[in-house]
Amino acid sequence: MTESAISAHGLTKRYGRLLAVDHVDLEVPSGSVFGLLGPNGAGKTTIIKLLTALSDITEGTASVAGFDVQRNPMQVKQRIGWVAAEVILDDDFTAWENLWLQSKFQRLPEWKDRATALLKYFDLLEEKDRKVGTYSTGMRKKLEIALALLHNPSVIFMDEPTIGLDPGTRRMLWELISGVNREFGVTVLLTSHYIEEADALCDRIAIIDHGKFVALGTPSELKARVNADLVEIETARPMDQAVLQGLPGVRDVRSQGKGWILKVDSSEAMLPRLLETAKEHAIRRINVEKPSLETVFLDLTGRRIDQGGNETFDFRKFYTTVRRSRQ
Ligand SMILES: Nc1ncnc2c1ncn2[C@@H]1O[C@H](COP(=O)(O)OP(=O)(O)O)[C@@H](O)[C@H]1O
Ligand SMILES: [Mg+2]
Repeated sequence: MTESAISAHGLTKRYGRLLAVDHVDLEVPSGSVFGLLGPNGAGKTTIIKLLTALSDITEGTASVAGFDVQRNPMQVKQRIGWVAAEVILDDDFTAWENLWLQSKFQRLPEWKDRATALLKYFDLLEEKDRKVGTYSTGMRKKLEIALALLHNPSVIFMDEPTIGLDPGTRRMLWELISGVNREFGVTVLLTSHYIEEADALCDRIAIIDHGKFVALGTPSELKARVNADLVEIETARPMDQAVLQGLPGVRDVRSQGKGWILKVDSSEAMLPRLLETAKEHAIRRINVEKPSLETVFLDLTGRRIDQGGNETFDFRKFYTTVRRSRQ
């Protein structure tokens, strides 16, 4: 075994003319949690498919759990688990029967002790004879992870593990994923388009866009890269870039759709000036963003990771902040 649980060089996937994964280099140390963070269509699932030998690599190399994915796909598959975004449980079966089925898929002669230990760990032992169709979402997720761990894999892949879950269940799952990583010493590679999720769970993160890594590092390293507030502004009548650039405290201005993104030293300090200047242009929207993984993505690409999670600017909150900062 190498030090890296996952290692890829120039990993590339082409679908016809589309470069879904574009020369990606990746090193994931054993025992760590690594996150691929990016918007829909960025290439996250494709990377997982390449690393798990479910899809042919167009170009480049990858090794997982000590084996070359292209030369030894079977050895790789025996050593990895996969928690898919889609449901894989059989609703008409009990949890125990689902585990039995999994043991058949994996050709595991000895599985009952492990299955019992996993059910116990996930607090499902007393529910093992209930049909999975009657389980809550949280219980189903736990069982899916248990299935993926049954054959004692050294690396586990989780594709959007909490997509569509309510915030409570999502947080419960974060605890579980961290727990599994610690307790079972499993290396975790997960994909997400939720900023807080990647931030909360991952030791290191690759931010991915159009099949390319645009940034790579620990969550704090990534956030430190921006080290500025971002102010988005959209006006009915166009504003001049040079005017915005000339405002005190503005470090950088870039266009975003019909508006601008300003990189500023302190949003509290410069917003009154900005509002004053933008007044005649009929402000449509202003949004202030403090350093986060979202601002890293915004800064690098001019777009948001989760377009749906757009927060509009709350003027009341803003004026309270400005009033406070003047006192
Ligand atoms: N089997 C396929 N055939 C053609 N294009 C595909 C296929 N699978 C994925 N793609 C395309 O590759 C890109 C990356 O997709 P995907 O890896 O699923 O992104 P993500 O998981 O980040 O949302 C997208 O543009 C998608 O439409
Ligand atoms: Mg996907």
